[in-house]
Amino acid sequence: MSTLKRLISRMTLEEKAGLCSGDQFWRTKAVERLGIPAINLSDGPHGLRAQGEEQDHLGVNDSRPATCFPTAAGLASSWSVELLEQLGAALGDEAQAEGLHVVLGPGANIKRSPLCGRNFEYFSEDPLLSSHLAAAHIRGTQSRGVGSSLKHFAANNQEHRRMSVDARIDERTLREIYLASFEHAVKEAQPWTVMCAYNRLNGEYCSEHARLLTTILRDEWGFEGFVVSDWGAVNERVPGLEAGMELEMPASGGERDAQIVAAVREGRLEEAVLDRAVERLLRITFRAVDARQESAEFDADAHHQLARRIACESMVLLQNDGILPLSNERRVAIIGEFAERPRYQGGGSSHVNATRVEPLLEALETRGALFDYLKGFEIDRDTPDPRLEQAAAEGARTAEVAVLCLGLPDRHESEGYDRTHLNLPANQLALIAAVTRVQPNTVVVLANGAPIAMPWAGQVSAILEGYLGGQAVGAALADLLYGEVSPSGKLAETFPHRLEDTPAHLNFPGDSDVVRYGEGIFVGYRHYDTLGTDPLFPFGHGLSYSRFDYANLTLSASDFDGQGSLTVSCDITNSGEREASEIVQLYLSDRTQSVPMAAQALRGFDRVTLAPGETARIEMGLSRRDFCWYDAERADWRLPTGIFEVRIGASSRDIRLNQCIEVRGDAVALPVIDRNILMGDLQRHEGATRVLRQHLADIADELPMLNGLMSRDGGDDLMDAMGHYLPLRALVSFSGFTEARLEDLLKDLKALA
Ligand code: GLC
Repeated sequence: MSTLKRLISRMTLEEKAGLCSGDQFWRTKAVERLGIPAINLSDGPHGLRAQGEEQDHLGVNDSRPATCFPTAAGLASSWSVELLEQLGAALGDEAQAEGLHVVLGPGANIKRSPLCGRNFEYFSEDPLLSSHLAAAHIRGTQSRGVGSSLKHFAANNQEHRRMSVDARIDERTLREIYLASFEHAVKEAQPWTVMCAYNRLNGEYCSEHARLLTTILRDEWGFEGFVVSDWGAVNERVPGLEAGMELEMPASGGERDAQIVAAVREGRLEEAVLDRAVERLLRITFRAVDARQESAEFDADAHHQLARRIACESMVLLQNDGILPLSNERRVAIIGEFAERPRYQGGGSSHVNATRVEPLLEALETRGALFDYLKGFEIDRDTPDPRLEQAAAEGARTAEVAVLCLGLPDRHESEGYDRTHLNLPANQLALIAAVTRVQPNTVVVLANGAPIAMPWAGQVSAILEGYLGGQAVGAALADLLYGEVSPSGKLAETFPHRLEDTPAHLNFPGDSDVVRYGEGIFVGYRHYDTLGTDPLFPFGHGLSYSRFDYANLTLSASDFDGQGSLTVSCDITNSGEREASEIVQLYLSDRTQSVPMAAQALRGFDRVTLAPGETARIEMGLSRRDFCWYDAERADWRLPTGIFEVRIGASSRDIRLNQCIEVRGDAVALPVIDRNILMGDLQRHEGATRVLRQHLADIADELPMLNGLMSRDGGDDLMDAMGHYLPLRALVSFSGFTEARLEDLLKDLKALA
């Protein structure tokens, strides 16, 4: 018997049930008698929120100072696995110093609509990018002996009615998009914990969703840790325990522990299920306690500089007519209250009490830049202030360049609620108009956690998307504006021209407590690229102060049957005059479309830093899964046959290299056989076609509908279509085919399985 099992055998029923819920808001229960310790959990994904006495799950009460790094939306724009690992490790160091055992993050929910109030805390609209970055974040944190809590599993893609809404998602979409965003992170990084979401998924609360938490998460993906509820997400405790949800947080005052005890005592819950949960909890508890580094400390200054470097490598230069980088000699009007009061993080449970904040004004003063500051607008109001506006316009007119520091005030986007539009506040829109009327050299710097509409983009010279850049945001902006560092970030989400263009527009945020994911797999660029709708700025877009040439695309084979892997390589050259980084993207496009597929899908990426004139050979691997679609009927990933185009792009809309490859897919699976199967569906299967011809040869002459089957060129589209869509049972209606013969035919068809 294992040590853990021996320990469990010494526990009382009450002690075991007690372990399945928190002792306090951020702490599990100990069992002193048996030397079972408690562990501490705390937010969050881009900085710690370790609280003292006053505790809450919404970031309302204070927390101890910690480094506030850029939020996930910005982090993802770095497309850097290395950077995410470094961030994760820094969080782990700070968690050790704070005596925390588990950090509640990263968030890997897909950005289904830009309106979701919490998108600042999530990585991407693309599952591959999201899951790879989440995996890196987890590896980093856990490399320091601190657990992660990959969240919110699953389909928590809106804040509206988040604790009750039922996300209705078809199986293929769920697998290819919403679960895929977690799958790689679970399989490759093995988070110590996974946090289940508040919402329902296809009718069941995630906190008691056995298929989600056991069949998929554990049986299919091999998750070895424990599942913790989101705070207050438990509905029925006993079904939740049976489904594989081990730890209810926060505490429930013993209420639900008692429900577990009663259920075991009354035979409604097998004690083995409780023991399984306790073993999972104890395994992570002892791992965490063993990994504890007592009296650990962290270097706040070093972490501040890391936050600055991460922000520099994440921010995205969306537009630049050449005005950037600025030179120190140019007099600049810095306009907008965000320059002195930066918005550098989001609202809610991820909120961090930053060790320090470096606004843009402070950074500009530090570097001795030539600038005047004008407030331009009040962050705390949306209505224009003519006095501030007039002064800003005058300051812009007399300067050589105007830099507008704009963005979304924190009341516009937050955990807990969604946006209803994509607009900047009215006072900022008015300010843009007033300044661009008098100053053609206008740069816009943005602080927003999710896309905004930019009807003014054509009136400005440059746009730098800073996202929510963390506590060193000002220094990072100054580094990029003045060219200390070349911008290198690329969008991990599409910026649409308008809300009506967005994929989920007709189905967001749903009616009452039902939200239908009607757009299916066509999320983000998969929607825009399949429909041919031009976005404002496409997925994967980002400019640099240098230029890159792409050449020599080579595939390790000209065909692929799903065995082994396919290597895609190409040369990237920095053809500019300065060192810079480039994010290279690999997309696959199924040109045959034997089943409906998105126009293209991201299947690989790499980030490379090159000196002027330097060339790097980039190599990326493709495996069977990269070409597959999820066949819900067969509950499996299937490799289609056809021609696939391998694309190497600087963005999803800037494809530089491409080459086609022939894919020999899985044999067409025998469809589920019953009397209502269509002739056309059977004829896609070679063996079934053979059986049909044998059984129907004697009646084929009297049925022109069977011309297609008998490969006779009847030349009659109507008849061919009728034959294609003819259910087998209808043969009895249109010929001397008897029910007895139909049974024989069905038996022979089923025998092919
Ligand atoms: C919040 C959030 C979750 C957070 C938890 C604890 O409601 O949904 O992300 O980790 O509660 O604060």
